[in-house]
Amino acid sequence: MRNIVRAMKVNKYFDQFHALKDVSLEVNYGEVMCILGPSGSGKSTFLRCINQLEKVDRGGIWIDNELAGYRIAGDKLYPLSDKQIARQRLHTGMVFQRFNLFPHKTALENITEGPCNVLLRPKREATEEAMALLERVGLANKAHAYPQSLSGGQQQRVAIARALAMKPKLMLFDEPTSALDPEMVGEVLAVMRQLAQEGTTMLVVTHEMGFAREVANQVVFMDEGQIIEQGAPEEILLNPRNPRMKNFINAILL
Ligand SMILES: Nc1ncnc2c1ncn2[C@@H]1O[C@H](COP(=O)(O)OP(=O)(O)OP(=O)(O)O)[C@@H](O)[C@H]1O
Ligand SMILES: [Mg+2]
Repeated sequence: MRNIVRAMKVNKYFDQFHALKDVSLEVNYGEVMCILGPSGSGKSTFLRCINQLEKVDRGGIWIDNELAGYRIAGDKLYPLSDKQIARQRLHTGMVFQRFNLFPHKTALENITEGPCNVLLRPKREATEEAMALLERVGLANKAHAYPQSLSGGQQQRVAIARALAMKPKLMLFDEPTSALDPEMVGEVLAVMRQLAQEGTTMLVVTHEMGFAREVANQVVFMDEGQIIEQGAPEEILLNPRNPRMKNFINAILL
């Protein structure tokens, strides 16, 4: 199996605060990894390091065997230029808790913006692909709607389509359903479940245990900047060994 993400002993500091401590993991092509853990444990920081919104202070992250942010020559590391980093960042698509759509663009325009302006794809092609993506997320009839007229769940599905339009090798989701009203969580999880079935490689920070149990190949539990448990969902979620993880899961399931 080929890995698409390989994180080795990733460390991140915010001034004196040690936010990530020797975080190591691997995600293979077509796999879904769910990251769980209490607030402040470093989940978002880790995703942000993967897509280079944050810089790693020690250790490294390889995306499809390319070291993020640096070039290795001999035994030295040289930082990449902004342009090279921007190119690497195209390998990952990210979906946030808040949908971050452009308010003055329609659903369709939100999706075609990246392909047209960044990838310089012809408008017609980009529009056709965007329509197919809207179909995939169940929103073909909302192509010309503006974000404010869409529900939270619909906006999040447009945000997923927008990330997919850039054809990333890896999709990162940071609590994609936690800002949604409960009745809209299901429709977004259904789209994510479908992506997983189609073989999309995904790294998902979530508190949705049902989703993690059904869809994840691996589950990782973070606490205070460290991975403290990792394994198949059935062993991690049903028989957590670590007492902190046990407490966390019990609190969520209550
Ligand atoms: N830009 C920053 N500057 C200073 N500290 C930060 C910064 N970003 C994150 N932190 C700190 O790093 C720690 C990890 O934050 P992070 O957002 O990764 O947690 P999280 O696991 O995603 O939490 P949540 O479940 O609440 O989203 C927290 O203590 C946070 O306050
Ligand atoms: Mg977070």
